[in-house]
Amino acid sequence: MTAPLSLRTRRLVLRPLLPGDAPALVAYRDLPEVARYQSWTSFDLDTATRFVARQADVIPDTPGSWLQLAVVLAATDEIVGDVGLHFRADDPQQMELGITLAPAHQGVGLGREAIEALLGYAFGTLGKHRVIAITDADNDAAARLFERVGLRREAHYVDAVFFKGAWGSEYLFAMLRREWRPHP
Ligand SMILES: CC(C)(COP(=O)(O)OP(=O)(O)OC[C@H]1O[C@@H](n2cnc3c(N)ncnc32)[C@H](O)[C@@H]1OP(=O)(O)O)[C@@H](O)C(=O)NCCC(=O)NCCS
Repeated sequence: MTAPLSLRTRRLVLRPLLPGDAPALVAYRDLPEVARYQSWTSFDLDTATRFVARQADVIPDTPGSWLQLAVVLAATDEIVGDVGLHFRADDPQQMELGITLAPAHQGVGLGREAIEALLGYAFGTLGKHRVIAITDADNDAAARLFERVGLRREAHYVDAVFFKGAWGSEYLFAMLRREWRPHP
């Protein structure tokens, strides 16, 4: 059996979700400002418990799976968010990333730290060819984050998804392995 995936950054540990994490996920995922551009509207304890339970069987780099990791402050062990790694079924050389941070821990560069660690894992460890991220076109904080870490805004899909009762637009960001610069 391989060791569970764990990535360390200056301030963070990214590690698999554990059954006891469900209440911590609810505390930020259920906030309207966090859910606004995400696939969910509310995120109650039952949802969180099932979400964490589904992760128990996910093996990293399995085509067609989403691996969800907790974003934990290394100094205090507090869960401050989570990241998603989508190992694409249609092309195993490509991955999609997602991230959610609790509002109390936004605006201090933790998102950047987490995404840079994921790029290191995707390109450096797994040798993937291309990493993408898709954001709601109104989600300025997410767009700034992905551009700040060096992803290129490659597509603007206009009114392309029916989302929470209205047509919504999305950006697609991407980086190739040859463009990736490992972060010290
Ligand atoms: C998307 C999201 C993760 C971005 O979080 P974030 O905290 O803004 O991201 P970063 O870690 O890059 O922080 C950057 C901000 O912190 C500031 N900052 C402060 N100290 C910093 C440091 N040491 N290093 C880097 N940035 C720092 C930056 O100036 C920047 O501010 P700005 O965005 O106003 O320019 C967050 O908005 C979120 O969780 N939203 C809800 C969920 C969501 O919509 N997710 C996106 C799905 S694709």
